[in-house]
Amino acid sequence: MDSVKSDSLLSLLNTFSEIGKVQPAGFTRKVYDDQWIRGQLEYADAAKRFGLNVFMDQMGNVFAANTADLNDQAVILTGSHMDTVEHGGLYDGLYGDLASLVAIGDLFTTMGSSTVPLVAVSFSEEEGSRFETTFSGSKFATDQFDRTNLALLDEQGTDFATAREAAVKTLNDVIQMRSQRLHVKEYLELHIEQGPVLEAHGVEVGVVSGITGQMRLLITVNGKANHAGTTPMDMRDDALQTANAVMNSIYKALHQFTDLRFTIGKLNVFPNVTNVIPGKVVFSLDMRDLDQAVLANALAQVRSICAHRAIDIDITTNVQPSRMAPELIATISQSAAELNLSQTAISSGAGHDAQVISYQIPTGMIFVPSVGGVSHSPREFTKSKDLANGLAVLSTTLKKLAY
Ligand code: GLV
Ligand code: MN
Ligand code: MN
Ligand code: MN
Repeated sequence: MDSVKSDSLLSLLNTFSEIGKVQPAGFTRKVYDDQWIRGQLEYADAAKRFGLNVFMDQMGNVFAANTADLNDQAVILTGSHMDTVEHGGLYDGLYGDLASLVAIGDLFTTMGSSTVPLVAVSFSEEEGSRFETTFSGSKFATDQFDRTNLALLDEQGTDFATAREAAVKTLNDVIQMRSQRLHVKEYLELHIEQGPVLEAHGVEVGVVSGITGQMRLLITVNGKANHAGTTPMDMRDDALQTANAVMNSIYKALHQFTDLRFTIGKLNVFPNVTNVIPGKVVFSLDMRDLDQAVLANALAQVRSICAHRAIDIDITTNVQPSRMAPELIATISQSAAELNLSQTAISSGAGHDAQVISYQIPTGMIFVPSVGGVSHSPREFTKSKDLANGLAVLSTTLKKLAY
């Protein structure tokens, strides 16, 4: 394996191990916050050091091209996202961001311009950790972004549009704006697996076949806040007690599905005070399946559980399952074989920018093992050798496609 390339990737990851670092452990870079801005600026700096041409769009997606003269040529795009979940790990998103830069930068240094221009991208947001919307960066880049999301509020009450405008303005002081949308021919994304399969089977590379559909709900249960001491038990309308019953029914109903993965991961109680009966509870439900019909059926069951009470359901994310392009699957697989790396076809239970992009553009994804299958956690870790393997597969694939 080419040690120059992997050394520059490791050194970049090392630089980023300070950006968004939080106590006691992990990384928080929510879209448009200060550490996110720092990250996108550092990404742009690194791209310039590789001699790449850096530009951005109105969403704060940052791009790095191996030509100064893109015009409206069809390009091959590769990258991932800069944002993290709260207290996330170092690799989710960032690995694909930085490896794409290194791969394109190294090919440019060693082989010069390509026949098809190569563009690296650091998408603004994929996780939905600040606003209740996901994949806004890649959706914007592919004209799928729903502008009503601009009114969404974060937990501090700042709206998406205001946060975006301020951050984009700061980036734009040093990164030039390109208002024309890129014409993308193919998209590739390198990512850690975030699950246990590759490690458990001792396989070095996962060639992604498809990505599960994802439906995220916010369920609001309304009750009446009142005094915890004076209100008799039979005269209360306790939103948390109702929510508890609803959640139990949801667990019971959704456990009946064979492959569905579902999580209630967020619970907000209002006013969240020891001696006040909860007046309102909002909880999330995240559901994933490779079959859209299963998700629709699960949603119908949740609706019927929630039907007879003062409960509102808000669908905040609804992305269809997706398939990677057969010709890119074949090219990635061939690259891994030429590099003598063991490989397997794998589906993704995590959402990725590749997913929304694949609805419009032929897309391929490469996975490398996650130690212990841990992700969305400070304990997320991928060995240097595996990081280098993924980079080599990406680089070989880009070379086949673009030179
Ligand atoms: C995002 O990374 C998700 O899959 O939840
Ligand atoms: Mn990710
Ligand atoms: Mn993630
Ligand atoms: Mn993800």
